[in-house]
Amino acid sequence: MKLSHAVAALLVACCAGLGCVQAVTLEVKEGNSTCIKAELSASFSITYDTFSSTRTAQFTLPDSATVDTRSSSCGTEESFPWLEAVFGPGHALGLSFSSNASLYSVANLTLQYNLSDSTIFPEANSSDVVTVVSASVGIWAAINTTYRCVSPVALRVGGANVTFSGMRLEAFMPGNDLSPTESVCLADTSSTTAPPTTAAASTTTAPAPTPSGTPEHGMYSVKNSNGTECLLAQFGLQFNISYFSKSQNKTVQDLVNLTPTQTNASGSCEASRATLVLTEKQDTTLNFTFTLNSTTNKYHLSGISLLANWPDMTARFSAINTSLEYLPSSLGRSYMCNAEQTLIVAPTLSLNTFRLQVQPFGVITDQFATAEECQMDQDQMLIPIIVGAALAGLVLIVLIAYLIGRKRSHAGYQTI
Ligand SMILES: *[C@@H]1O[C@H](CO)[C@@H](O)[C@H](O)[C@H]1NC(C)=O
Ligand SMILES: *[C@@H]1O[C@H](CO)[C@@H](O)[C@H](O)[C@H]1NC(C)=O
Ligand SMILES: *[C@@H]1O[C@H](CO)[C@@H](O)[C@H](O)[C@H]1NC(C)=O
Ligand SMILES: *[C@@H]1O[C@H](CO)[C@@H](O)[C@H](O)[C@H]1NC(C)=O
Ligand SMILES: *[C@@H]1O[C@H](CO)[C@@H](O)[C@H](O)[C@H]1NC(C)=O
Ligand SMILES: *[C@@H]1O[C@H](CO)[C@@H](O)[C@H](O)[C@H]1NC(C)=O
Ligand SMILES: *[C@@H]1O[C@H](CO)[C@@H](O)[C@H](O)[C@H]1NC(C)=O
Ligand SMILES: *[C@@H]1O[C@H](CO)[C@@H](O)[C@H](O)[C@H]1NC(C)=O
Ligand SMILES: *[C@@H]1O[C@H](CO)[C@@H](O)[C@H](O)[C@H]1NC(C)=O
Ligand SMILES: *[C@@H]1O[C@H](CO)[C@@H](O)[C@H](O)[C@H]1NC(C)=O
Ligand SMILES: *[C@@H]1O[C@H](CO)[C@@H](O)[C@H](O)[C@H]1NC(C)=O
Repeated sequence: MKLSHAVAALLVACCAGLGCVQAVTLEVKEGNSTCIKAELSASFSITYDTFSSTRTAQFTLPDSATVDTRSSSCGTEESFPWLEAVFGPGHALGLSFSSNASLYSVANLTLQYNLSDSTIFPEANSSDVVTVVSASVGIWAAINTTYRCVSPVALRVGGANVTFSGMRLEAFMPGNDLSPTESVCLADTSSTTAPPTTAAASTTTAPAPTPSGTPEHGMYSVKNSNGTECLLAQFGLQFNISYFSKSQNKTVQDLVNLTPTQTNASGSCEASRATLVLTEKQDTTLNFTFTLNSTTNKYHLSGISLLANWPDMTARFSAINTSLEYLPSSLGRSYMCNAEQTLIVAPTLSLNTFRLQVQPFGVITDQFATAEECQMDQDQMLIPIIVGAALAGLVLIVLIAYLIGRKRSHAGYQTI
């Protein structure tokens, strides 16, 4: 069986609460169809011996990690599907998948590291290539769904610790892209459920919400690997977020503005999927996913996720919705909405946007193409038109009345 594998590169810079960790996309293909796809960040903590003591090396899966096309496979009658990412001099991370009729899971996780790599393992007393395997990984999901765990997942593999975060992966894929339906890990579901507010608490202490005003307007873009801009966006953005506040010891509803000067943009552009990732001050990661329907050539904002770990939060906040139908427009056009718009993500999060314009596909000259405006803007455009038309009508009526009056008076004079 001839296998051809595709390797994707850097996707997003994801701050996983552990500092900034690169997210990589890894794909295993057979012919033209993808069978395993994983988007993840991984960090490693490995204890090794030096001549005098033991040390712990800490490093992350670099964005230069690539799928080893020779060893990775979509699986055969006798073997399981296998994804192997290689990086640096002889390091590798391998995932083996198994499935039954309803579920698939990571059967085992293999980590291979080369102690000769003195940049990662300085003064190691050995130059061996070490391979460790763990068969209790606990990553599983329903068939035809994407496993999603944005929260960090720490796994012990031999003498090493592997921590995954921002993970979305699928094996035994029915299509070439991750299934839109997600199996969400327990850590993610528990971090979104804030403790309930008690009615008593909210009546006794009424805290003054921080006045946030209209957010500053920011301009963001994503570049291709060849340096050309492929996604453009500009807007002012405000989080309407509900979380459990440390200082107030209760759930609060807060309006928080995104500060463009403290926000970095990254992301990726694929043929039918584009992402914009905004990272603010290492503790806020906002992700927009746009999807293009290539049969209709229409696109829309299909997913929003927010990860936040603000100082006043008792737990990491996460909210995600991947079945959205916001900001619809056509390929070759941009989408514009000057009026304030509310994008509801989850019961705990909505985003208010101001003077928004985006173009996630078909950016040609680093400039927005002709815009399709939102209904609200069109309605607002109607107001001056209606007023203008009304005025014009009034003028016409007055004019006609005048002319009729003049004619009558003329007629009157002639009868005299
Ligand atoms: C892969 O796609 C190309 C172009 O779309 C097509 O020509 C080729 O036949 C396909 N190969 C397989 C194995 O499906
Ligand atoms: C892990 O999975 C790979 C691929 O299926 C397999 O070759 C290997 O034997 C497995 N290792 C263990 C310890 O189960
Ligand atoms: C391990 O690292 C050393 C030094 O970087 C390199 O020469 C060697 O080829 C590596 N081993 C493997 C198996 O890649
Ligand atoms: C699939 O495996 C899971 C866990 O091993 C088990 O709970 C489930 O019953 C299995 N389903 C079928 C249809 O065999
Ligand atoms: C490295 O050090 C450990 C602990 O001191 C020792 O057990 C091991 O044999 C050493 N390995 C080599 C290759 O010297
Ligand atoms: C998964 O999707 C494929 C293709 O859409 C379908 O043939 C298959 O029956 C689905 N399996 C399950 C368990 O839903
Ligand atoms: C950059 O790459 C994109 C596709 O990745 C391609 O459409 C575009 O023409 C390239 N631009 C230049 C200047 O090479
Ligand atoms: C914030 O969200 C709450 C609950 O969804 C809503 O009642 C409130 O009107 C929103 N505030 C703004 C300014 O959008
Ligand atoms: C927070 O509130 C709960 C009940 O409302 C109370 O039992 C607890 O002591 C409070 N904690 C702090 C730190 O004030
Ligand atoms: C594209 O749009 C058509 C018509 O609305 C729909 O039938 C089709 O499922 C869509 N394709 C995708 C991939 O969403
Ligand atoms: C996602 O958004 C849609 C449309 O706004 C809504 O119907 C759905 O309940 C949301 N899903 C979640 C998990 O909040």
